[in-house]
Amino acid sequence: MLHCSMSYFCLAMLHLPNPSDARDWCNVQRQTGRSVGFVPTMGALHRGHESLVDRARIENDVCCASIFVNPLQFEDGQDFNAYPRDLNADLAVLEAHGCDMIFEGTLESFFPEVEDVRRIPMISAGPFGRGLEEVCRPGHLDGVRTIVDRLFRFVGPAKAYFGEKDFQQTLVVMDLAESLGYPDVIVCPTVREPSGLALSSRNALLSPDEKKEAERIFQSLAAAAKAWSSGIRHAHILREKMIEQFAGSRLIVEYAAVRNPSAWTADDPPGELSHAQALIAARLGRVRLIDNLQLH
Ligand code: PAJ
Repeated sequence: MLHCSMSYFCLAMLHLPNPSDARDWCNVQRQTGRSVGFVPTMGALHRGHESLVDRARIENDVCCASIFVNPLQFEDGQDFNAYPRDLNADLAVLEAHGCDMIFEGTLESFFPEVEDVRRIPMISAGPFGRGLEEVCRPGHLDGVRTIVDRLFRFVGPAKAYFGEKDFQQTLVVMDLAESLGYPDVIVCPTVREPSGLALSSRNALLSPDEKKEAERIFQSLAAAAKAWSSGIRHAHILREKMIEQFAGSRLIVEYAAVRNPSAWTADDPPGELSHAQALIAARLGRVRLIDNLQLH
């Protein structure tokens, strides 16, 4: 059954409770010649997500989004439970940005063929899943690839929109899209606060003090960018510049790395880099934040 988020006005955004309804709606769009742009999310939407929806609307005939806090990508039940959720606010944001359809789901509805959702066959994140996030959050990117694969199969989008903010995730998703032969993966720039702090759903879990402290994450990326502009091309020196920014900080750095994104190899690739992405993950209490910046 199809539900409108505003039941009295059916031109409003459709809000579908499960993925099979979403699949039917997307099939109708494609059969009537409309391209579907897709923005997968876990909710707690902010301006970063909005930028993806805005772009999907412009570049496609119709735009749909998903909200699903995917248990398969959380290694820690507490982190999963603490993840911010505010469905009504999210629906209002999506509607205001002209999203045509939003759907939710459960593990049971995404994987109807699996009898016991504790036994969902996981898809390996693939070659771009190696290192960085894999080391700190084992299985996380496998969980992302497994759900994004499923989302793509339900929606069948022409284009799907992801934020550069989750850089390693975008590499894994582009690899997935290449293996499926669709969709076009559009990587959109990171939306930041004026301080440089990348918008993140997890920022809602920070006190004002902690948010101030978290600005060091962008400062460390900016330090690497400055060193790059001054001609430094060795990953280990660029990394030192990043780490220096955390002297005396309460932030615990999980990784600070500089990698060549088109040859996703280990940290500190030998020799001079021609392409480089600085990447960082840090914890402030229980909150984990990640960010990255292209240096070249
Ligand atoms: P979520 O964290 O909700 O992010 C949804 C999308 O918004 C991702 O593509 C993410 O990179 C993008 N995004 C987050 N912060 C952003 C910012 N500051 N600027 C621009 N884009 C930003 O990422 C996920 O959900 C999940 O892993 C998901 C892909 C939905 C699979 O479960």
